[in-house]
Amino acid sequence: MVEIKEIRKIEKEKASIHSHITGLGLDEKGKAIFKADGMVGQTEAREAAGIVVQLVKEGKMAGKGVLLVGPPGTGKTAIAVAIAKELGEGTPFTMINASEIYSTELKKTEILTQAIRRSIGVRLREKRLVYEGEVKELKLKVARSRLNPYYQVPREVEITLATKDDQMKLTAGDAVAEQIARLGVRKGDVIWIDAQTGEVFKVGKAKGSVQYDIGRTVEVPSGAVKKEKELVTTVTLHDLDLNLALQNISLSAIFSLWTEKEINDDVRKQVDKIVKDMVGKGNAELLPGVLFIDDAHMLDIESYSFLTKALESELAPILILATNRGVTKIRGTDVESPHGIPLDLLDRLLIIPTRPYNAEEIKEIVKIRADELEIELDNETLEELTKIGTEESLRYAVQLLEPASVIAKRNGRNVVKMEDVREAFNLFVDVKRSVKYVKEYENLLLK
Ligand SMILES: Nc1ncnc2c1ncn2[C@@H]1O[C@H](COP(=O)(O)OP(=O)(O)O)[C@@H](O)[C@H]1O
Ligand SMILES: [Mg+2]
Repeated sequence: MVEIKEIRKIEKEKASIHSHITGLGLDEKGKAIFKADGMVGQTEAREAAGIVVQLVKEGKMAGKGVLLVGPPGTGKTAIAVAIAKELGEGTPFTMINASEIYSTELKKTEILTQAIRRSIGVRLREKRLVYEGEVKELKLKVARSRLNPYYQVPREVEITLATKDDQMKLTAGDAVAEQIARLGVRKGDVIWIDAQTGEVFKVGKAKGSVQYDIGRTVEVPSGAVKKEKELVTTVTLHDLDLNLALQNISLSAIFSLWTEKEINDDVRKQVDKIVKDMVGKGNAELLPGVLFIDDAHMLDIESYSFLTKALESELAPILILATNRGVTKIRGTDVESPHGIPLDLLDRLLIIPTRPYNAEEIKEIVKIRADELEIELDNETLEELTKIGTEESLRYAVQLLEPASVIAKRNGRNVVKMEDVREAFNLFVDVKRSVKYVKEYENLLLK
């Protein structure tokens, strides 16, 4: 029987409109290639971002941050995403919009602390007890969901694992069963199950198992099914906070947990101590990631001082802010400041400007987005979208792709034509037209 204690990674993927971006698209000398890694143009900003990546990798960005400044739709968020990709797999990247700190449930500083701790990774090297082998027998038992009686969920699993030398039959509860179902584990797969946490990993398909001819095949392991394995996992400080917080909760506190998701400071201190001990013993490594705060001018004076202090702490992520504001009031004060950011924080930021795109760049970006969305355009249509992108905004042009594709499909076509884009253009207005519309309407009412 496998004991189950869940350690789940909490991950958020919010970057779908930037899914085409895989890096900064620089050559070995750090010069921007016009179109590479899903990025187009914006040469200087990309090259500057490349230098930031190098500074981060050399540990020279500690206590500093980056500010991306430019009009809407000039690729500020795109560049932040690209920086994260360049820092490599496993580097934590947290993206929040500054307005998210104004929540009715949590203090601003709590939200920022959580965001900071989500942006610091801990690479753990540990010996774990696992069950590993090729799946020989697999029986999933389903039952009605406790939450929804019309819904069937995996409730229990019976599984036989075999190595070249050993065989073992296991049963486990819903946490393991659910993962087995979700991962689509089948007979002939090589998997391992963490004996303590119940986490399931699919390694690949066993060499020589006849039912499969696609996918990665792996050697069937030898030795005992139950064994010690050295594992490297990356979690964030926030994951560790949550896990420790959950362990410390009494039954009566569970109800209050849902309304008050605040994490006790003692829990964080405990986590920091554990992590420092592990780093000291060589069992863990710290991995500072990136905290990206979009629309930074929405932060207020308290949040700025909090962030400035946080940058100085020993455990700090790389802070990237973005804004499209010029000189404006710092929120919560009557003081004006460049970009609405206090000077003591500005002093610590490397500022990267992004510039509006020309027609050629807009055309390439629309093309990349259309490819990414698997939307086919003919030349004339691409030109039309480029024109819309130049006259209205890049974002609006990119946003029209999906509605136009729906319209094309309704007209029985796979290729999006000029008329589909025109129809989408009329149905969905850009910001300029929506503002004009409301103004006209106001005038009518006032008469
Ligand atoms: N240089 C670029 N190369 C490729 N795609 C880009 C580039 N700049 C912007 N985009 C894409 O255009 C859209 C708008 O850009 P975005 O990064 O959201 O602008 P901003 O954050 O400055 O408002 C997004 O889908 C983004 O991924
Ligand atoms: Mg943005």
